Amino acid sequence: MSMTAAPFVIGLRQLPYYDSLQTPEALASWFQQRLEEGLCEFDHSDFEKAQEGLLGQAIRQLPASQVRQLQFDMSAGVIPARRNDDRFGAKYYDTRPEYLDEVVNRALKQLGLEQLNTFMLMRPDPLMDVEATGRALDTIVESGRARRIGVANFLPAQWRHLQAAMQTPLACQQMEMSIARSQMLFDGMWDSMRRDNMAGLAGSPLWGGRIFENQLGQMLKTMADTHQVSPAGVALAWLHTIPGQPRAVVGTLRPARLQALAHDAGLTLSRPEWFALLEAVRAYRVP
Ligand SMILES: NC(=O)c1ccc[n+]([C@@H]2O[C@H](COP(=O)([O-])OP(=O)(O)OC[C@H]3O[C@@H](n4cnc5c(N)ncnc54)[C@H](OP(=O)(O)O)[C@@H]3O)[C@@H](O)[C@H]2O)c1
Repeated sequence: MSMTAAPFVIGLRQLPYYDSLQTPEALASWFQQRLEEGLCEFDHSDFEKAQEGLLGQAIRQLPASQVRQLQFDMSAGVIPARRNDDRFGAKYYDTRPEYLDEVVNRALKQLGLEQLNTFMLMRPDPLMDVEATGRALDTIVESGRARRIGVANFLPAQWRHLQAAMQTPLACQQMEMSIARSQMLFDGMWDSMRRDNMAGLAGSPLWGGRIFENQLGQMLKTMADTHQVSPAGVALAWLHTIPGQPRAVVGTLRPARLQALAHDAGLTLSRPEWFALLEAVRAYRVP
């Protein structure tokens, strides 16, 4: 579904924790290096809107030809408690058309981009006016502000309800997915996505780094040595081997780790290898 040939998406959620990337100059140079490596797709969310200023300043330092290569996926609709100044201070969801419009317009302006690659609803919202939100999402695509629309963490009945109120086909779903979080392959969720032509974006594909621990970590290391790749490369290959090929949204921003993942991206696993990793994390054999 995606225009890009990037082997995986780079999630920008951890940007505030990288001291070396806190100036527009350093971040611009980081983007430049990634684009030269063919890593052109990035994941951003309204949850991290505080970093849009820095991202935009960095992007404005890039030559126009490189800005055109940048593909930004963005999700929205979750309001953290820290941004709620009403007297109850709850975390809540907002999928109202006026809110989604505000988010997209602000992000494009701040980031200095003309179009988002993907605009996604971050969570199913029990208070969503499906007809109104569906129309708003269609309008975002029709006006050229996003190339495609997706959802995150929706059940099939939830995305089909929204889809029925939209002209634009829902292109993708983002969810947490890795060797350690694979239930969607067994409960029908992944098949529903494939049946509905929705690509999968696998968030936390290394389970936030915990995948390298214990028995699974050992197994990844042994397999990595066999294939002469990195253990992280094997973990992404586990995803890549699944028919429909979920695209990982990786969390590291370290150049060396990203380069290793890009280098290892061609690997797919045999059936026995794929099931061996599953068995290592679940600690029991498939029935
Ligand atoms: N829609 C959803 O439900 C959902 C759920 C979860 C996540 N997500 C998205 O997925 C993105 C990534 O999540 P994540 O940060 O948990 O991703 P991840 O790629 O699973 O984990 C990244 C962590 O692994 C560490 N790591 C350790 N060894 C590594 C190695 N060899 N190579 C690469 N990383 C290594 C990294 O440390 P360093 O940073 O020190 O390199 C980083 O802290 C986020 O941007 C988030 O928005 C979506």
